[in-house]
Amino acid sequence: AACETIAELLAGARRGVVFTGAGISTESGIPDFRSPGGIWSNYKPIMFDDFCASEDARMEDWRRRFVMMDQFGAAEPNAGHLAIAEEVRRGHVETVITQNIDGLHQRAGVPAESVIEIHGNGNYAHCLDCRERHELAEMRAHIDETGESPRCRSCGGLVKGAVISFGQMMPEAEMARAQEAAVTADLFLAIGSSLVVYPAAALPVIAKRAGATLVIINRDPTDLDAIADHVVRMQIGDVFKPFLG
Ligand code: OAD
Ligand code: ZN
Repeated sequence: AACETIAELLAGARRGVVFTGAGISTESGIPDFRSPGGIWSNYKPIMFDDFCASEDARMEDWRRRFVMMDQFGAAEPNAGHLAIAEEVRRGHVETVITQNIDGLHQRAGVPAESVIEIHGNGNYAHCLDCRERHELAEMRAHIDETGESPRCRSCGGLVKGAVISFGQMMPEAEMARAQEAAVTADLFLAIGSSLVVYPAAALPVIAKRAGATLVIINRDPTDLDAIADHVVRMQIGDVFKPFLG
């Protein structure tokens, strides 16, 4: 019944927004953050200021980055990613806003211009000063050779994985685009997020307040269940496999 409701809402949507968190990628073999065994039960976050100030923090950050890079490369989009891509193709979903850094929405077929990555992307790096892109494989080779964290080839600035760390500014253009999408959405589906990290978790609130129908699909309760029009507490794969026919 939950699947039928979602199917009907999507069929009627013209400006649907999908907002995803780590829960959509667990069925692709990538752990989430706050479930038992999740990333924050194994790692302590590296704060942005520490990355900038400490070579040890940088080296630990790179070590984790390369573990994730290998994990992302080995992962495949799952039924959730594929069903969302199909809804984008059909014109019911206009924008996918993701907190994830794995790039699986794009690999499932959502055009890059329809995906807003508000926490960045873990598949490449960039210079913190001039923003020039650097490839992770080259950064890894540099670290293996020199034992030192890499510097920008153009300006000498610090290079860092292109993701947002705690204490780091959110990307302004992406946040502005995400807010605009939330305000104009007729349907807003929050999928696989605990909805506890701000400002990301403000987006469903903004959408609801501006008139969207808010649907939350998540295995466990979230902080925003009380304001949602529909709450679906299921495995994402079980919700979306029927969509793939
Ligand atoms: P969380 O780990 O906080 O939440 C993931 C949610 O997905 C949990 O509530 C799970 O119950 C649910 N879940 C996991 N697998 C599922 C499945 N197969 N089907 C249905 N539900 C499932 O992850 P996020 O909400 O994405 O930020 O975390 C938000 C931010 O916190 C991340 O972007 C990251 C982290 O710190 C930064 O690193 C800046
Ligand atoms: Zn630079």
